[in-house]
Amino acid sequence: AAPVRVGVLGAGVVGSQVVRLLREQGADLAARIGAPLELAGVAVRRPHRHPDIPADLLTTDAAALVARPDVDVVVEVIGGTRPTKDLLLTALRRGAGVVTANKALLAEEGPELYEAADLAGTDLYFEAAVAGAIPLIRPLRESLAGDRITRILGIVNGTTNFVLSAMTAGGDSYEYALKEATRLGYAEADPTADVDGFDAAAKAAILASVGFHTRVGAADVHREGISRVTAADVAAAADIGCVVKLLAICERIRRPDGGESVSARVHPVMLPRTHPLAVVDGAYNAVYVEAESAGRLMFYGPGAGGAPTASAVLGDLVAVARNRVAGGRGPRESAYADLPVESIGSV
Ligand code: HSE
Repeated sequence: AAPVRVGVLGAGVVGSQVVRLLREQGADLAARIGAPLELAGVAVRRPHRHPDIPADLLTTDAAALVARPDVDVVVEVIGGTRPTKDLLLTALRRGAGVVTANKALLAEEGPELYEAADLAGTDLYFEAAVAGAIPLIRPLRESLAGDRITRILGIVNGTTNFVLSAMTAGGDSYEYALKEATRLGYAEADPTADVDGFDAAAKAAILASVGFHTRVGAADVHREGISRVTAADVAAAADIGCVVKLLAICERIRRPDGGESVSARVHPVMLPRTHPLAVVDGAYNAVYVEAESAGRLMFYGPGAGGAPTASAVLGDLVAVARNRVAGGRGPRESAYADLPVESIGSV
């Protein structure tokens, strides 16, 4: 089959790993897809910082790359909402597939992007946007499509989990642990997005939207970060057999009038040590899903970092490429439920 041509936006912590894997695993990926994946271009801000990428693939003009008619799939790993949203809309509107790791963008502008993908009959995949390497979006969207999810509890921010784990183990200070998380490539460009819970709130919005087939935006999520959690809090929790974790909590609520609504919130929680989420340490993430027929499921694995996140991006890229080779597309964004979102105050 004709090659599937890929344009990559960004070559930072995740993008550089995506490009490396694309080049190293080319033959395997081609066999899985039934067509070769060809790197058509990589948009970066400073080309001289990327000596590993062939110079003829590098461009500083992301807008031109997404508009190129020979680019079949755009992989977005630059983050931010501007101008990223417009770049992705350009790609989707001309029928290109899009793979993105951009949780903030999806949480804020998801509905407009999904609609553009639906109108153009193309794919928008975002496994890497929540919990790094852990297969989660497609299991929620596809494997559990026959069930009714009632609750999603998640440790979805690797940086804050790394910091809280370090504080719990007793050795490291908050500041040192945060610096270490940044050095290891877990933290956002501005780590306040991690410690103040914005990153987890965006992920909670995405999980609630996908899990409950409805629209929940970042602004709907009650949010409290970990910056006020002290060593004394962590010690007090330990004294009563608990650990402090930053949780994303998404719930389907049955209202007294028989109707349904949903809620999503992010805040530090004292979890009993016996809870399955209590053992999730370091930059690992885990998401605990309760569904009516399936019961309780736990998804666990590396939630941040270049290579793990690139694994999820590559998985999406293979899926989108396969869909294109087969002449079809993946599941539509089915936000059919339109459930009201309840705002939950501090708990
Ligand atoms: N800053 C994020 C985290 C990266 O720490 O989990 C992965 O989304």
